[in-house]
Amino acid sequence: MSKNYLQAAVEIAQEAGKILMEEFSRPLNIRYKGDEVDLVTQADQRSEQFIVSRINQSFPGHAITAEEGTGQDTASEFRWHVDPLDGTTNFAHHYPCFCVSIALAERDTLLAAAVFNPYYNELYTAARGEGAAFNGKKIAVSKVATLGTSLLCTGFPTRNRKLSPNLQYYGEFTQRSHGVRRDGYAALDLACVASGRFDGFWEFGLNKWDVAAGVLLIEEAGGKVGDFEGKPYQLGGPVILATNALIHEEMRAVALEISRRAPAPR
Ligand code: IPD
Ligand code: CA
Ligand code: CA
Repeated sequence: MSKNYLQAAVEIAQEAGKILMEEFSRPLNIRYKGDEVDLVTQADQRSEQFIVSRINQSFPGHAITAEEGTGQDTASEFRWHVDPLDGTTNFAHHYPCFCVSIALAERDTLLAAAVFNPYYNELYTAARGEGAAFNGKKIAVSKVATLGTSLLCTGFPTRNRKLSPNLQYYGEFTQRSHGVRRDGYAALDLACVASGRFDGFWEFGLNKWDVAAGVLLIEEAGGKVGDFEGKPYQLGGPVILATNALIHEEMRAVALEISRRAPAPR
């Protein structure tokens, strides 16, 4: 069954990707959700409208949590987590790092995930128990075994930027690894841990729609997802640590050491 859900998620993500590419070649229509760094474009809205209506058509009664607020809460045990455009700031500046992220959960169990970057035509998929794939080819997390030889990734929030402690973590992890990238699209950052491009990722304050698909991708690719305390990650929890499993404990120890100096906001 997860395979059927996955097929639907892939088709919907690819169609939504076409909408994003149409919008990418047009003059932008930007609004601000709060201050002048929290953007929303016509592309976010058109993509979400399309995704929500297609899920409703194919799976009537399923609940949908979608970033721009047009999903619906129903009593269903099935819930779709939708980020119609992850990387809006990149999109708005014509930096081609953006994607669609769609995941389905049955209660607390993630079943299917699709993350699609239409600019580079890169599709990451996972179905529970069936593994993860990149453009149809099976993927696995990297074999890098030490933090000192790892390539990491993180992100910074657009809302309440000044409250984020992440610069401290960014600096420290930069000095203890081969480097920390910051591409601005969390769903694809996580997908890159699943495919072994990155060895680890962390971020504060991500929402369920940012991470749901990426979490399943990493789990199915053999990686590990948790928090800094060593507990399993709860979707939408205050901090996510996602790694190839091999460097997990080393990253966690460093994160805890920094947390003692710069406590994360609760
Ligand atoms: C953002 C991106 C970014 C992350 C932010 C998210 P959006 O999502 O994933 O990488 O650092 O925290 O809000 O707003 O572009 O969908
Ligand atoms: Ca978004
Ligand atoms: Ca997002």
